[in-house]
Amino acid sequence: MPILRLLTLSVCAFSLACGSGDKGRESDDRDDDEKASAAVNLDPSSITASEIALGDSIFHGLIGATSCQACHGPKGKSGAAAPDLTDTTWLHSDGSFPAIYKQIETGVMAPKQFSSMMPPFGGAPLTPEKHRAVAAYVYKLSHP
Ligand code: HEC
Repeated sequence: MPILRLLTLSVCAFSLACGSGDKGRESDDRDDDEKASAAVNLDPSSITASEIALGDSIFHGLIGATSCQACHGPKGKSGAAAPDLTDTTWLHSDGSFPAIYKQIETGVMAPKQFSSMMPPFGGAPLTPEKHRAVAAYVYKLSHP
C-alpha cells in the first residue's frame, strides 16, 4: 500500500514521538531554549563566591559588552529604566535562580511598570558561564 505508507511517513515527519515511544517526551515538549537552560546546573547551592564576583563585574559592565547597572542601577536597587532586583517583589517570575537565568536570556518584551523593554542578555549575548554568573549575582542580591 504505497499511499498509506506515504501518509504514515508524513505523519511521522511532523511528530517527535515517532519511533521513540514516550521516552523523553517531557523534554520534547520544552522548547530549545529551555533545553539549553536545563543543561546548566541551576541549583542555587552550587553558586560559588568567585562566580558571584564574575557576575558582579558583568552586572557593572566591567566585563562584556553590556551593563545591567545602566538600567537597574549600580546596586540593582532600581534605576530610571528598570526595577529593583534586590527586593522580594518579582514582576515576571518567582525570582528563583532558574527563573532569573531564563529572564536574562529572554529579556522583557512586555514591561509591566517601566516604559522601555529589556533586550535579551541586556543587549549583548553572554557565554553560558557568564550568563550563569550574572544570574547568580542577581539571585544573591535578594537571597544573601
Ligand atoms: C535597557 C535597560 C535594561 C538593561 C540593560 C537590563 N535590563 Fe533587566 N529589565 C529592564 C526592564 C525594562 C525590565 C522589566 C521592567 C518592567 O516589567 O516594567 C527588566 C527586568 C529584569 C528582570 C526581571 C525583574 C522582575 O521583577 O521580574 C531581571 C531578573 C533583570 N531585568 C535582570 C537584568 C540583568 C542581569 C541585566 C544585565 C545582563 C539586565 N537586566 C539588563 C531593563 C534592562
